[in-house]
Amino acid sequence: MRAGLPEYSGDESLRVVLTCHKALRSFAVEAKAAVDLLEGLATTRSIRRYTDESVDLDDLRSILWHAGRAPSGSNRQPFRFLVLRDGSAAREAKSVLGTAFRAGWAAKRASDGYRASRFADSMQRYVDRFERVPVVILVCLDRYRAPNAMEGASVYPACQNLLLAARAHGYGGALTMWHLGVEAELRQLLAIPEHVGLSACITLGVPEGHHGPLRRKPLREIVFDDQWGEPAAWAEGQDDLAD
Ligand SMILES: Cc1cc2nc3c(=O)[nH]c(=O)nc-3n(C[C@H](O)[C@H](O)[C@H](O)COP(=O)(O)O)c2cc1C
Repeated sequence: MRAGLPEYSGDESLRVVLTCHKALRSFAVEAKAAVDLLEGLATTRSIRRYTDESVDLDDLRSILWHAGRAPSGSNRQPFRFLVLRDGSAAREAKSVLGTAFRAGWAAKRASDGYRASRFADSMQRYVDRFERVPVVILVCLDRYRAPNAMEGASVYPACQNLLLAARAHGYGGALTMWHLGVEAELRQLLAIPEHVGLSACITLGVPEGHHGPLRRKPLREIVFDDQWGEPAAWAEGQDDLAD
């Protein structure tokens, strides 16, 4: 034994390793949760590259709880989260979705004329490895009235809460729509009733890359003062502060 280090039996060593692992994990969670709210808003980007690590269930529970704190019309909370992890139906659904995502990206790549680039490569990698995404969440709308143009307003705030909560827990995600190409198959496979809308498909995992500054229009282009089209002089300067 080296001077100063205690000697442990096999069982004790395992216990020590597990205790250290737990302590490190809770330290890491605390550190991750310390992302400042405004910093989180300014730097949470779509993450499409994930390690093969699974999403911890305590984290997943917290992420979905925070998603569920989102506002909705009359506080009806019509959002529902159908989580696809590694059960047999989930694996089948991921495979159906993988096909749809590859077709969705192929069509977009062709129609929008994407040239070879890091972005195009990373999208291709995302769809090619879709079946390996650790957690896929179908965000659903449990309708209580006929579909209408505004109904998404009671679901998408929950999606953004979900992505920000995932960020706080050290994960990354992307909100996507390519599930729509296989909606009928998903309904059948996952027993989703007809009155339930499939509003979004969010992929989640431990990021391989990093969050960071977002590419967005400068504030002066998106804020008007008093009248449509009137620039807001007071809105100048914020973009420099954010960089
Ligand atoms: C309504 C909506 C639909 C989207 N659909 C897709 C999609 O089908 N596939 C995808 O990879 N990303 C999708 N995204 C993610 C956007 O591409 C992404 O948010 C945008 O390009 C900005 O990039 P950033 O989030 O990395 O800053 C969607 C985002 C929104 C809000």
